[in-house]
Amino acid sequence: MYLDPDEEKILAGEKGETLQKMLELLIALGKVFGAERLVRIRSAQVSGASYKTIGEYGLAWLSSLDARAAVPAVLNPIGMPRGRWQEMGIEPAFAAQQQAVIAAYERLGVILECTCTPYYLHETSFGDHLAWSESSAVSYANSVIGARTNREGGPGALAAALVGKTPCYGLHLDKNRNPHVIIEIMADEKDWGIARYGALGYHTGKLVGNKIPYFRGIAPDRDQMKALGAAMAATGAVALYHIDDITPEAKKNQFNLSGLEVIRIEPAEIDQLFSDILVDAVAVGCPHCSPAELIDIARLLKGKFVTKPLFVFVAQGVIDTNINTVNEIEKSGAKVFADTCMVVSPAMERYPAIMVNSGKALAYVPDMCGAVARIGSIEECVAVATS
Ligand code: F3S
Repeated sequence: MYLDPDEEKILAGEKGETLQKMLELLIALGKVFGAERLVRIRSAQVSGASYKTIGEYGLAWLSSLDARAAVPAVLNPIGMPRGRWQEMGIEPAFAAQQQAVIAAYERLGVILECTCTPYYLHETSFGDHLAWSESSAVSYANSVIGARTNREGGPGALAAALVGKTPCYGLHLDKNRNPHVIIEIMADEKDWGIARYGALGYHTGKLVGNKIPYFRGIAPDRDQMKALGAAMAATGAVALYHIDDITPEAKKNQFNLSGLEVIRIEPAEIDQLFSDILVDAVAVGCPHCSPAELIDIARLLKGKFVTKPLFVFVAQGVIDTNINTVNEIEKSGAKVFADTCMVVSPAMERYPAIMVNSGKALAYVPDMCGAVARIGSIEECVAVATS
């Protein structure tokens, strides 16, 4: 793999042992995947931030590192809202370990914003090279924005953040971004909301695995695309998709679609994912809510009070710029929490059945929280939480 003179110095240990080890890790990854060089990145998003997922060994490894991030780098959601963990029912022992993880990342110069929606906080543009970890963020960056990132593991993303570069392979290269399969939606989707797009993603991910789908017959907005991509990345391993005449690369490129397999999806295949089981709590914001989603939730909750716990998950930076809307939501008794989510927080494990409006959460809640999951529209979620 080609290294420039600066990279050679890092590899020789002239810039410290941590950077040397991090570059060795990136080179090893690059060799496995056939990268010819490293590429400079605009930002990193690092998973492995919840103590629930990394445990004591992960914390010990992080604490042993000594370097500073070379590019803006944020974290994936952690196990609790940093400022309000008591309100979420987090055990003090867990909170102490989680705070130690956060302190370790802070020492490395990582920005303490813990979110799967970094694109709401840091400008990310078409063609940018990134090293992001969280699968829904990766899908959004590649598909909706037209940026370029592989789905990095936590250590690979952290190494990229510290070195400021990542191996140039996979989705960083044009030749690997062409569609593999056409998905035709045999329904009028004009009235579909976020949950229905999440359900479509849940179903499609199972059908396509890690192929790049090219959708025909849908015209989702950005929040709906966020839900679609998040769910496909959860039930499949879809890191990039295109939508005819909607996503930037589908608009810009004349992809050669001839000869591709065509999968047709009927409305009944999506309908069957919706059930009416009784639930103990409702959780929305997977991926973390956009400002528009917060406004919608506040509108639906106006004049109502929750009778079941209703959790809304969002980035702290989005709370800060939408504080009036957040206050409106919390007047109902709902909780708007930053930094964490229904999947990575141990607090959600106390509810046997959880309602969500997300295809990704529908896929992950059973395994990660040991709960039954039900999907419904945001209107249904609010109705169940306030009935
Ligand atoms: Fe984000 Fe947690 Fe969902 S990390 S995509 S809210 S599972």
